[in-house]
Amino acid sequence: MTKVLLTGASGLLGGNILKHALANKTLDILPTRLGGDFSVPEAFRGDKEILPLDIRSQTWLWNIISQWKPEVIIHTAALSEPGACEWQRETAEAINTRAVKFIADLCEHFGIRLIFISTDLVFDGTKGDYLETDPPNPLNFYAETKCRAEEIVASSLHDYVILRTSLLLGASPQSLRSLDERLKADGEAGKTMTFFTDEYRNPIAASVLADITLKLASGNNRSVTGLFHAAGKDKVSRFELGEKLCQKYGISRQFYKGARQDEVTLSVPRPKDTSLISDALLTVMNFPMPSLDEMITALP
Ligand SMILES: NC(=O)c1ccc[n+]([C@@H]2O[C@H](COP(=O)([O-])OP(=O)(O)OC[C@H]3O[C@@H](n4cnc5c(N)ncnc54)[C@H](OP(=O)(O)O)[C@@H]3O)[C@@H](O)[C@H]2O)c1
Repeated sequence: MTKVLLTGASGLLGGNILKHALANKTLDILPTRLGGDFSVPEAFRGDKEILPLDIRSQTWLWNIISQWKPEVIIHTAALSEPGACEWQRETAEAINTRAVKFIADLCEHFGIRLIFISTDLVFDGTKGDYLETDPPNPLNFYAETKCRAEEIVASSLHDYVILRTSLLLGASPQSLRSLDERLKADGEAGKTMTFFTDEYRNPIAASVLADITLKLASGNNRSVTGLFHAAGKDKVSRFELGEKLCQKYGISRQFYKGARQDEVTLSVPRPKDTSLISDALLTVMNFPMPSLDEMITALP
């Protein structure tokens, strides 16, 4: 059994990782979260208790890690909303950057493998089809904090994987966390939605990324290390994605429209094309990435 400590177990990705891990008998998972005001549904956690852990506390991290002795840490916890990061910079820096330094230091001290989730937003979006060798240039504070965290992980550890991912789709423990959950709710409420026609991403289902992450935590892929892009293989505009989701949920064309970024007042700078090429990871893992249409069909 591989002992895996998971941060962010109540989040969109963390919840999906926990759900997958429960079905994997080779993993002993310890799920943790900050501890909000909602319960994680049983569909995601089975009968597992989710431990409270504020990753901003070095002592709290030390106590859990030194007592439980994980072989792998999957670190998904973050302040992940760019708007919240822009307005709460000190909190964003503490959670997204300083806490990663604490975790990386403990991984080095105890010889723990670290799998850290980062974002396509580290790029400025002027080029698109980014490779791992392309230089980051974050446009907003969220992306800056994640970029600094990537540098900390890569410079302090040997046994690490950084997964830069894109828009995550799928059911979340909190519901209304993913784009498809929000879009469906807005559609049911009869709200009119606007999707950017000039913003490109490679969406990926959180359950697919969960599968990739757990395969990197145990088994044959334990020798895979370094920085990798981990996103869907289909590049789409937000409008194309929104339209596919509206069609899936039976939302009529009158309830959504397209707009260019420059037609809307943006509260936080948004890169236009942060599409990622993920071939390096898929090749090294021999992972069969589903198409976007297959992932959308599988959404609840
Ligand atoms: N969602 C996307 O489309 C997307 C795209 C690219 C990259 N990413 C990256 O993927 C990762 C997962 O994102 P997500 O969307 O799944 O996140 P999410 O749904 O926003 O969940 C965030 C998680 O972090 C936990 N957390 C927040 N502050 C914490 C703290 N101080 N100590 C411990 N835990 C804390 C939360 O716990 P509570 O619930 O208890 O507060 C929650 O479990 C993040 O690193 C994010 O940057 C996400």
